[in-house]
Amino acid sequence: MENKKRSSFTGKLGFVLAAAGSAVGLGNIWRFPYLAAKYGGGIFLLTYLVLVVTFGFTLMIAEIALGRKTGLSAIGAFAGLNKKWKGLGAIAAIIPVMILPYYTVIAGWIAKYFFEYARGGAEVLAQDGYLDRFIAQPVEPIFWFVLFIGATFAIVMAGVNKGIEQCSKVMMPILIVLSLVIAVYVCCQPGALEGVKYYLMPDFSKFSIMTVVAAIGQLFYSMSLAMGIMVTYGSYMKKDVNMEASVGQIELFDTGVAFLAGLMIVPSVYVFSGGSAEKMNQGTGLMFDTLPKVFLSMPMSNLIGAAFFLMVIFAALTSTISLMETIMSIVQDKTGMSRAKAGWLTFALMLLIGVPTSLGFGPLSFISLNGMNLQGMLDFTANSILMPILALLTAIFIVWVVGVETVVDEVKLSSRFKKEKLFRFIIKYIVPVSMVIILVSSILDTFGIVSI
Ligand code: PHE
Repeated sequence: MENKKRSSFTGKLGFVLAAAGSAVGLGNIWRFPYLAAKYGGGIFLLTYLVLVVTFGFTLMIAEIALGRKTGLSAIGAFAGLNKKWKGLGAIAAIIPVMILPYYTVIAGWIAKYFFEYARGGAEVLAQDGYLDRFIAQPVEPIFWFVLFIGATFAIVMAGVNKGIEQCSKVMMPILIVLSLVIAVYVCCQPGALEGVKYYLMPDFSKFSIMTVVAAIGQLFYSMSLAMGIMVTYGSYMKKDVNMEASVGQIELFDTGVAFLAGLMIVPSVYVFSGGSAEKMNQGTGLMFDTLPKVFLSMPMSNLIGAAFFLMVIFAALTSTISLMETIMSIVQDKTGMSRAKAGWLTFALMLLIGVPTSLGFGPLSFISLNGMNLQGMLDFTANSILMPILALLTAIFIVWVVGVETVVDEVKLSSRFKKEKLFRFIIKYIVPVSMVIILVSSILDTFGIVSI
């Protein structure tokens, strides 16, 4: 950290693409649609969109500015500005450790689906309950998980991220076009209109505080916020790159992919599964259950299925790589180990957490807390507890410790700050108040103390 020369992104485009590469992943394609289905469709979408341009914008600007100002990653940036607040870096460090293992378990399922399509399994995959039967097995899901985490590890160790970055620059546009085609196809099916309406038209009677809680959790997750990743990315950003415009573009990209994924998946639940409430609530399996049915009804289903899941593998891989890099560099900084040692330690830790998480869908499913299995618990703790805590403390840190000016000045180094007033208002009032409300309500709701 001391005298190491910090590499930086080549310019605005480089920065935007790298940040978008981290942001776009399973969160957009797998997590967003099932939350939208579960939390009332249109009302969730509307809440989410409003939050992206207000809340998400504010937090992303804040994190990137802290990173660019200090030139340090999360761990160092908070400590660099104020020694007493270095604990924030520690919270930021725990979050990716909780997310990466289960993220990779799900990515393993994606790899399995790709493999099955590639060998002509479109019909088998479209059978009712296929995913449930697959993930309940003790061995095979672990095999795919280990394969995925192993590939991530190998890439991080070999340092071939650049190649992956290049690849995803090609794959991402294809993914978007493919999603668009599939979404249009789904929306043209008889019965889809009902689903499109559910997804696009807000029904205000379905609104509750839990809609906001879920939408904010998703926002953190999808935009890679509240875990220090954007602080690190900001530290690589050149001083003359327009920060506000970059954030707008990352948001557009990230939200666009999520929106399309929803448009693909939510209406297909109506067409292929009748849109029952039970189906809408299904959660983790939604994408794996409905898309194969859509593909089977299309011509060349195996090809389309294989192509789609291959793209998703890439989207997921760019995210797992950035998560593993982050964890590794934290381990390295904290322990002073060599990069190789830190890498192996990280890898072992991921296996240690990931294997039981995978088993949590089958043999270990008896371990549950209020209906959550191990994956659900990790997801809930990271997204609904730790991230709001970190966002709350970051806001307090900015407003009362280093001063809002620090961030505002940093943004103004490269451009006018058009949404400055909005930023000041949100970071000062909205973030602290809403984070407290969210923390309290998500805990009360999840543990069934009160239903909100
Ligand atoms: N934002 C990624 C997604 O939506 C997940 C992620 C979070 C990746 C943090 C890297 C870092 O899938």
